Amino acid sequence: MRRRIVAGNWKMHGSVAENTTLVDKLLQGFPADAGADCYVCPPFVYLRGVARQLDGSAIRVGAQDASAEIQGAYTGEVAAGMLADVGCSAVIVGHSERRTLHHDSDQLVARKFMAVQAAGLTPILCVGEQLGQRESKQTEQVVGRQLDAVLDLVGVAALGKAILAYEPVWAIGTGRTATPQQAEDVHHFIRKRIAALDGKIAGLVPVLYGGSVKAANAGELFAMPNVDGGLIGGASLNAEEFLAILQAART
Ligand code: PGA
Repeated sequence: MRRRIVAGNWKMHGSVAENTTLVDKLLQGFPADAGADCYVCPPFVYLRGVARQLDGSAIRVGAQDASAEIQGAYTGEVAAGMLADVGCSAVIVGHSERRTLHHDSDQLVARKFMAVQAAGLTPILCVGEQLGQRESKQTEQVVGRQLDAVLDLVGVAALGKAILAYEPVWAIGTGRTATPQQAEDVHHFIRKRIAALDGKIAGLVPVLYGGSVKAANAGELFAMPNVDGGLIGGASLNAEEFLAILQAART
């Protein structure tokens, strides 16, 4: 049975005071037997504080990005090793906002994936198509290309220690969720593509759905056979909502 995972991507939100309150509420409401792995991914500057507050709990801390470089003269960048040093256990790579707004190419995302694993952390690799690409029936081509860039660089075995997230760009922050069947179709495609290389890894790698997931739609999405949990943006900033999504991920 694949692990169920719910990860909260806080994006560029929060403050010390707001994060402390949010994490307090998560800790208070967190079930003893969550039945799913849980991550929160605050902005870089808050990682250490949040990691300390969560120390000893079952909630893990992830970052939203990492440099592809190990260390050196890269002003403004943060190395994966530094993220490990401050208590992270996972890093999101290839989020659509990085790909679109910061021009992270498929190849750069692949190098970030490799750097994250080299630091002993779990990459959460995001893939997903834009609305125009879906409408012109290019979803599989785009998602396949994004996935292949990583497979070409690190090999299929590396996916055995990774998490994937399918996030259709048109569903992110828009309130327009993919239907459970639309999500399932792409998740199935992703798993099939990995299975062509290694059936065992394909069966093991968790594939999360992301894009306007909330408590009201999480259950039907997570009920699909190839949807192993969610990467949650907006709804992860609300403790009650996020805990309800976690509850929906119970197997
Ligand atoms: P959303 O964001 O849940 O606010 O749509 C998801 C994401 O960007 O990871």
